[in-house]
Amino acid sequence: MTAIVLDGRAVAARLRARVRDQAMAAGIVPSLAVVMVGEDAASRLYVRNKTRAAAEAGFREQTIILSADISEAGLLAVVRRLNDDPGVDGILVQLPLPSQIRPQAVIEAIDPGKDVDGFHPVNAGRLAIGRPALIPCTPKGVMTMLREAGVAVAGARAVVLGRSSIVGRPMAALLTLADATVTLAHSRTRDLAAECRRAEILIAAVGRAELVRGDWVAPGAAVIDVGINRTADGRLVGDVAFAEALPHAGWISPVPGGVGPMTIASLLENTLAAALARRGVVVGCPA
Ligand code: GUN
Repeated sequence: MTAIVLDGRAVAARLRARVRDQAMAAGIVPSLAVVMVGEDAASRLYVRNKTRAAAEAGFREQTIILSADISEAGLLAVVRRLNDDPGVDGILVQLPLPSQIRPQAVIEAIDPGKDVDGFHPVNAGRLAIGRPALIPCTPKGVMTMLREAGVAVAGARAVVLGRSSIVGRPMAALLTLADATVTLAHSRTRDLAAECRRAEILIAAVGRAELVRGDWVAPGAAVIDVGINRTADGRLVGDVAFAEALPHAGWISPVPGGVGPMTIASLLENTLAAALARRGVVVGCPA
């Protein structure tokens, strides 16, 4: 068997076009504000990709670049100004932040209704109990990928590798809401390979280059690779040894060109959802 390779770029392009059409049909122009602290090159590239996608979807977007030595109070004041600005629907503060700023303090300062990253505890809590919420973009994009590929989630054994609050935990919550039987595995899990071999859906989000070997993948499994790692010889690879896994899996997402583009498309979905909710249109349940 050779797996179907999931084309995240193509699925994301369709999703972005759908979001643009939905905004137009609703007669609204959603507005996204992205805040960046410092001049980190990787963050700059991520931010540019996000704001470019927003502009191409017909959204209003602004990028606020703050000095790397800004105080936590200074950043919180910017966040509060955006919270109070009726012309802003979505706020995203790019992470990581310099060491003088506590990321959790910033995340908790964002109006939960404008929290298009879905990182605020109010949104995390709503997701945990299956209430309407803004959902973290990467796991939301993974669910869209699975749905678009026709992978059966209800009743499936799903294994999520990694328990970060940005990917692993919300991923496990979303799969649970979609009626999968979910194992959340992590660095202290005994016999990770054996856990993975039981998975009909395997989501790798640990940030360790090619940790998941071909013989960890059950025949026909859907393998979604959230990792983006740079190897010592300069290659960009995921958390899954792609070439090894290909003959085992039923579906597999590549790196790059898999989950990455889906994350940005999900951000646009969240910004539209926030814009609609702020105008009185209720956002649907996550599952
Ligand atoms: N840095 C890397 N990924 C992300 C993300 O999804 N959101 C934010 N705010 N910062 C990031």
